[in-house]
Amino acid sequence: MGNQEDIDLSVDFCGVTFLNPFVLASAPPTTTGGMIGRAFKAGWAGAVTKTLLINASTITNVTPRLASLGFKGQAPGSKVNYALENIELVTDRDLSLWLKEIEDLKKKFPDHIVIASIMDDASEPKGWQRLAKQCEEAGADMIELNMSCPHGMPERGMGSAIGQDIDLAARVTGWVAEAVDIPVMAKMTPNVTDVGLVAKACVDAGADAISATNTVASIIGVDLETLSPLPSVSGYSAHGGLSGPAIKPIALKAVASIAEATDVPISGIGGITAWEDAAEFILLGASTLQVCTAVMMHGYSIIDNLVEGLAGFMKKKGFTTISDMVGVSLEKLIPLGELDTKTRLVAHIDNTTCTQCDACFISCRDGGYQAITRGSDKVYKVTEKLCSGCSLCMQVCPVSGCITMGPKS
Ligand SMILES: Cc1cc2nc3c(=O)[nH]c(=O)nc-3n(C[C@H](O)[C@H](O)[C@H](O)COP(=O)(O)O)c2cc1C
Repeated sequence: MGNQEDIDLSVDFCGVTFLNPFVLASAPPTTTGGMIGRAFKAGWAGAVTKTLLINASTITNVTPRLASLGFKGQAPGSKVNYALENIELVTDRDLSLWLKEIEDLKKKFPDHIVIASIMDDASEPKGWQRLAKQCEEAGADMIELNMSCPHGMPERGMGSAIGQDIDLAARVTGWVAEAVDIPVMAKMTPNVTDVGLVAKACVDAGADAISATNTVASIIGVDLETLSPLPSVSGYSAHGGLSGPAIKPIALKAVASIAEATDVPISGIGGITAWEDAAEFILLGASTLQVCTAVMMHGYSIIDNLVEGLAGFMKKKGFTTISDMVGVSLEKLIPLGELDTKTRLVAHIDNTTCTQCDACFISCRDGGYQAITRGSDKVYKVTEKLCSGCSLCMQVCPVSGCITMGPKS
């Protein structure tokens, strides 16, 4: 990406300085302090611990606990995963072990940011406050409130059982904000009607930052041989949480809604795999970014693409700091009723790059406006007065740039 020395990737996130915006999300890549240390060495600026509980001995994970979503008909030997579903619970490692590891991490990596993710039920403040205080004393730079895990924990009155109830979410945030001096970040669930409302209630109750989002409640599929939903645990399953590229659009919408509803820093999470995803989250209002599934699939080394790619993009677009870029695209997000209805575009097909696959013809015939005709020589033509400008043909065309939308010729 060339020389990007004049680009400053550091971020001031509610008073905490991150060397760059990239943070490991609370998940398997942050299962131990040792793993987090390796990630810091690889270039990650911060990490959110796997969620800590007062009593980790209540946690027993099932096997297997992951299932992935590819697409039917992939070529043998190739595997593209759009999403991962997990039914994993929070950490099963003892709190005292974690507190020691947080302390060690901060000694070894004083410039890297350790965020302690914590969880309890909403019956009383004691557990939340004790967890938060102990993590603060161990040296954690921030606290993240896990009020958003959609599986396993809600049955115990924890996770999204709290984040889906505005009053409980605000109450828990207030308890923790009152107990510690370090910044408190509330992690949202996307499984609500209006995430902006929940985030605002948490900010009003004392949250210094919001992270969004946790996984999307899901059932990833059913094994058609055994008829068991997936992942199958001795023939049975439970609904779980979806992560990875498929949830990015849901997470981007959540971040934009939170940016519009609050004025605190936002940590964007959901499907970030490459620098382009990171740039999109920042443009819609996030200033730090958390990553889980892409690291689970490809390892800590994806940080090189994220850092170099983002710096290269910033240089190209004339942004010198992350704060120059945060939320810049929000002003282009307007009510649908205010969008331009006067400009009428139609499809244009470049038959010189067309592979004659028929996809545009079939889609327009059966899912569109019958505007594309196919000559006997498989040359495709758009009848402009029939084309409604929907762009379906462009969406299904496998050749980039072959079909474009433009004014009538
Ligand atoms: C296997 C697995 C375990 C997870 N465990 C936790 C957890 O303990 N606490 C938490 O707040 N989020 C947990 N998450 C959610 C992630 O932190 C993150 O919010 C979510 O995966 C979306 O980001 P991604 O698309 O980059 O994976 C977990 C996700 C996965 C896939």
